[in-house]
Amino acid sequence: MNRENPLVLGIESSCDETGIGIVRGTTLLSNTIASSMDEHARYGGVVPEVAARAHLEAMGPSIEAAMTEAGVTFEELDAIAVTSGPGLSGALMVGVGAAKALALSTGKPFYAVNHLVGHVGADILDTRGEPFDYPTIALLVSGGHTSLLLVRDLVGDVELLGETIDDAAGEAFDKVARILGLPYPGGPQIDRAAEGGNPAAIRFPRGLSLPKDMAAHRYDFSFSGLKTAVARWVERAEDAGEEVPIADVAASFREAVVDVLVTKAINACKDLGVPRLLLGGGVVANARLREVAAERAAAAGVALRIPPFSLCTDNGAMIAALAAQLIMAGKEPSSLGVAADSTLPVTEIQVAELTTGS
Ligand code: KG4
Ligand code: ZN
Repeated sequence: MNRENPLVLGIESSCDETGIGIVRGTTLLSNTIASSMDEHARYGGVVPEVAARAHLEAMGPSIEAAMTEAGVTFEELDAIAVTSGPGLSGALMVGVGAAKALALSTGKPFYAVNHLVGHVGADILDTRGEPFDYPTIALLVSGGHTSLLLVRDLVGDVELLGETIDDAAGEAFDKVARILGLPYPGGPQIDRAAEGGNPAAIRFPRGLSLPKDMAAHRYDFSFSGLKTAVARWVERAEDAGEEVPIADVAASFREAVVDVLVTKAINACKDLGVPRLLLGGGVVANARLREVAAERAAAAGVALRIPPFSLCTDNGAMIAALAAQLIMAGKEPSSLGVAADSTLPVTEIQVAELTTGS
């Protein structure tokens, strides 16, 4: 195996994106993504069984497409990497099964890695000429997660500072969009609806931000109370026969989510003396989140990094990039007995042996 500049194929299937990425060291060669998002639209959220079936259908063609785009052969690969958790069990199993089959048939080493740490690894592929230093705080926000991490070393030391205790941030966007009669996925819809609205029109609650919550949940998030507050506000307006000011509700809701996300992330930077913040996950597409994060990071003297959007949403390139880092750091391959683990903790950057997770 070439450990200097390894050619790695990465498979990501933890949620509704079948992502295949190929990297050589820190260079991105291909990043194909097939999403089953449209199939979930009528349910208003990702349906695990539907996602797993879609992965099964997309897996083979996606691998072929990524190989063709990268212009490499299976023989040339140095390793096969896969997300083994956290995520939806059935969805993960499709990717893990495919990766094991590829590793077995090609005789290449197999690396089972952590999805959340992969989001951080995505940044390695986009150094824009300036390698990003560690430690860094990472805020990962998507339909499936809202996690605040302290990354001291990408391949050796990642700590979970906090996460959502109920809904993920993207999930909150999706649920509130539904309340406002907007289609799934709700994030882009709310972002658009909020454009002409007044973010100060309604003061929606900031979850886990009161002094009494901050002691035990300084870096944790909660969005279900906010969603309920929006639902009540809309109901009250409708009961009173008023027209619901969608733009104001969307802008005020978006402001509440963004305020909490950025406040807690910058607090972590300040408390821990870490002058770097990395953003990842699909919610990073949010125009207001990018704006507020940029403003407050600058004010706090924190360097802000946001990888290009195609590397922020779930993708296989980030998994390949993380595995390439592990290989370059001399880490040994995972056992082919590794299972999918829906609740894999972020401290397990690579799963080396069979785990008892679900
Ligand atoms: O990372 P991602 O593509 O994957 C999964 O969660 O699987 O994130 C999707 C989430 C959805 O909940 C979607 O509503 C949200 O990201 N999202 C946004 C925006 N674009 C996508 N949320 C807020 N504002 C946006 N512009
Ligand atoms: Zn993700």
